[in-house]
Amino acid sequence: MGLFSGREVSILGAGMYVPERIMTNDDLSKMVETSDEWIRERTGIRERRIARDDELTSDLAYNASLVALKDSGVLPSELDMVIVATNTPDTLFPGVAPKLQGKLKASRAGAFDVQSGCTGCIYAITVAVSGIACGLWNKVLVVGAEVLSRIINWQDRNTCVLFGDGAGALVLGPSLSGQGHFISAELRSDGARSDLITLPGGLIEHPASEETLREGLHYVHMKGNDVFKFVNRLLPSFLKKMVQTAGYQSDQIDWWLFHQANLRIVEGVLRRLDVDMDKAFVNLDRYGNTSAASIFLALAELFDSVNLVKGQKLVLSSFGAGMTYGAILYEM
Ligand code: COA
Repeated sequence: MGLFSGREVSILGAGMYVPERIMTNDDLSKMVETSDEWIRERTGIRERRIARDDELTSDLAYNASLVALKDSGVLPSELDMVIVATNTPDTLFPGVAPKLQGKLKASRAGAFDVQSGCTGCIYAITVAVSGIACGLWNKVLVVGAEVLSRIINWQDRNTCVLFGDGAGALVLGPSLSGQGHFISAELRSDGARSDLITLPGGLIEHPASEETLREGLHYVHMKGNDVFKFVNRLLPSFLKKMVQTAGYQSDQIDWWLFHQANLRIVEGVLRRLDVDMDKAFVNLDRYGNTSAASIFLALAELFDSVNLVKGQKLVLSSFGAGMTYGAILYEM
């Protein structure tokens, strides 16, 4: 894996949507034994968004997609493919992507979901870029959307303080002269650590039963401290090598967009890369960990808030259940 070849591919537009309801750390401290101080110090999170009871993942995906399509000037009828990265599909089938394609009336487009933990965003973007680069597709809508609040055990302080709901979207297409382009991608997995983040119940291994309900197997289970160590051990050398493979050094990257899981992880990885924190874009304080939506939310806000200059380089990087991890290098 490494450099993209074929046609150069650009980000044509970006958008995001988060539910209105804000849940603060103080709100959480009324539900479980925790405190604003503990959550801020250990994670950097101050608040997260929570979807309304009648809001589905496909609704969040739709709202974010409308913004990205408008931003790009691309019409739904021009889309060749709709890809949604999610770990919280409305239903296992149909997937979110076909529902989104139908709602958008993207009549020429195919549609599929990507489920690869929080790294689903990196996998989905990489597949979209590959499909355009080789000439199979022209315009692709790629979305990360999650309603994690419905698979969280709100009595488990180890997990409930970390996650939030949201969606982000990108419209990708062949680069016109002067536009930015994707340079490279690395997608990895360490399935030997598949026990670290799981949602074990309700499917084939543990079909839904009174017992799975009683044991809470339909909720997210996570060995948080092991995830923390896994990521800190692995990501710095992985990212350093990924950037070098593309012909750059870490200090030549203008913006690092990490999976917005924990500020201490972002700080630790950058310290090991010998890169200043002001090169990181961080919004986890306001949204928490939105899993496969996280990189999309960070990108949409980066584009909105920073005047990026042609030639600047961005690294997008994530990790998650699997354990999967990966990164993408983009030049503006
Ligand atoms: N409030 C107060 N105390 C809490 C708490 C909370 N919300 N959650 C856990 N604790 C307690 C633990 O019970 C433990 O208490 P004990 O020492 O009495 O047993 C103590 O805090 C330390 O727990 P530990 O898990 O070692 O803390 P930590 O420093 O590793 O922080 C995480 C916990 C989850 C914040 C951190 O490990 C983390 O962010 N891991 C990565 C998770 C992640 O990124 N997941 C997403 C992957 S996509």
